[in-house]
Amino acid sequence: MRVVRGPGRVNLIGEHTDYNGGFVMPMALRMAVRIALVPHAGPAVVLHSEQFGETAEFVPGQVEPDDAPHWLRYPMKVAEVLAEAGLVLGGFRGVVSGDVPVGSGLSSSAAYEVASALGLLLAARPDLPPGPAEAVAAAHGTDTRHLAEWCQQAEHRVGVRCGIMDQFISLHGREGCAIVLDCRDLSFEAAPLPTGRAAVVVIDSAVQRKLTAGGYNERRSQCEDGVGRLRKFDPDIRQLRDVSPELFAAHASALPKTVRRRCRHVITENARVAESVEALGSGDLERFGRLLSASHDSLRDDYDVSGPELDLLVEIARGTPGVLGSRLTGAGFGGCTVTLARPEAVEALRSAVTGRYPLETGLTPRIWVSQAAAGAAVEA
Ligand code: GLA
Repeated sequence: MRVVRGPGRVNLIGEHTDYNGGFVMPMALRMAVRIALVPHAGPAVVLHSEQFGETAEFVPGQVEPDDAPHWLRYPMKVAEVLAEAGLVLGGFRGVVSGDVPVGSGLSSSAAYEVASALGLLLAARPDLPPGPAEAVAAAHGTDTRHLAEWCQQAEHRVGVRCGIMDQFISLHGREGCAIVLDCRDLSFEAAPLPTGRAAVVVIDSAVQRKLTAGGYNERRSQCEDGVGRLRKFDPDIRQLRDVSPELFAAHASALPKTVRRRCRHVITENARVAESVEALGSGDLERFGRLLSASHDSLRDDYDVSGPELDLLVEIARGTPGVLGSRLTGAGFGGCTVTLARPEAVEALRSAVTGRYPLETGLTPRIWVSQAAAGAAVEA
């Protein structure tokens, strides 16, 4: 039996910038989706989902069965995209399990897509030893950047026009590091995290994300609308990434109000990522924390993807001595916050959240102190 793993992620800063050609700073989590599988000679993929207690199957390249459960659509779409790209896939029987909470903004779907891709590719090359995703990709004559793009395509076909961040970090995570990714050319570098001096605390609001696909795709279209209008002032503008704060300040009044606020978030958020790289590089954690908090305010006020529960978690965190900064993470509309805290402040944060949050919302939060993990791999 073989085991493949695709990790979830938490994004430290750079939210809703990826599909605007901008910058992000995510880290991979130890929480992951795993597929235990036995390759076989035929093309069928037979999967049992531990979470849904259900078994279902598909044959890559054949018409989707009408009664395919939603959870099967991810590996089906991954197989479809990989096959179109000319990769050789193998059939297998497998069990999907995982501890990335679903619908919490920690990228369980990207983790699942990446694990599915590795499973399909490993099943075609069962001779490959355990090792990082890079080796599996190389054995198929490709690389993990392409794998990330194909997994992103699969997500689009499931229905969310997501950017590249989640699939990319799931494949390129580094232990102890966040990565700084340029989402336009996919160049990236590792940003070591000051593990002894600060903890990364992820808190699940327990608000299941609702209307994510609709709200997300709408934000994306509003950004595209902004690009179309701003291009009149500079034909070189292809994405919001290309709009400088100066050009924006000069021409923002030409944009309808909502589009203007969406664009302002993205343009200022890209600048915050650049500043965060500097702050982290020079060990200025107070500054990094302030940037995280500014990111939240912008997501709340300009991008409109927060909500009362996420705002409350952020408020509780920011009111706790030793917390450096706090923000919602991922697409928003519910899900998790990420908080940077001095290690000695973590217990106070925990008790502040578990004391106040359930009383005010009736919801039970979950709290994790997260370590940055390595990217996807064949584990066994
Ligand atoms: C989701 C998407 C990502 C990214 C974030 C917001 O996680 O999958 O591509 O756009 O939202 O930053």
